Amino acid sequence: MKILITAGPTREPLDPVRYLTNRSSGKMGYALAEAARDKGHEVTLISGPVVLAAPEGVSLIKVETAREMYEAVRDRMEGQNIAIFSAAVADYRPAAIAEQKIKKTGETLTLTLEKTEDILGSARRVFGFTGFLVGFAAETERLLEHAHDKLVRKGCDLVIANDVSRAGIGFDSAENEVTLCLPDASPFPLPRQSKAVLARELIAFITQQAS
Ligand code: CTP
Ligand code: CA
Repeated sequence: MKILITAGPTREPLDPVRYLTNRSSGKMGYALAEAARDKGHEVTLISGPVVLAAPEGVSLIKVETAREMYEAVRDRMEGQNIAIFSAAVADYRPAAIAEQKIKKTGETLTLTLEKTEDILGSARRVFGFTGFLVGFAAETERLLEHAHDKLVRKGCDLVIANDVSRAGIGFDSAENEVTLCLPDASPFPLPRQSKAVLARELIAFITQQAS
């Protein structure tokens, strides 16, 4: 199958030396790309800035901003059977990028931010994607409620929810503990395990559901 995966954070420039970003190592997305490749799938990985090595045998497209990620996904959605959006996309970007470095003049600094493109939210409505659509929901409270809301709002077939307020899972850690949220089934919690093992389980589940 053809599988598109987004991973990592995005970086939204504020001036020539600063940017806004999200906490994300990209490990989960890269592990998913490797697990899918190992099963013989054709993988396109669209990644924000991370320190991870490029996985072999995967078509890797590197981007910086949410807009660049949006355009990269839009241009490659056609013909994909599965799309998995694990990127931690910035929700807002500076409304204007200062041409020169912003100087430390006032006691406070107020930034005006504007919304970025919702890439996952555009998959069905804007890109016309008809394949199996998977989103992530990283939450600090009311995990299942927020995950279910995203499932419906973004037209997903599956939302992989994780509670990022708990130590040792999500973000930069090697392990993750997630709950699978599907449209017509009760939430299905998976045990805490390494991101590599979890990725293999998720790919097996997703490819089985998609076919
Ligand atoms: N996502 C995306 N593009 C964005 C924001 C989010 O593709 N601009 C995707 C993420 O990759 C993830 C899912 O949407 O798969 C949910 O991301 P999340 O940040 O939890 O949802 P938001 O809709 O941004 O809501 P909020 O941050 O307010 O919880
Ligand atoms: Ca968000």
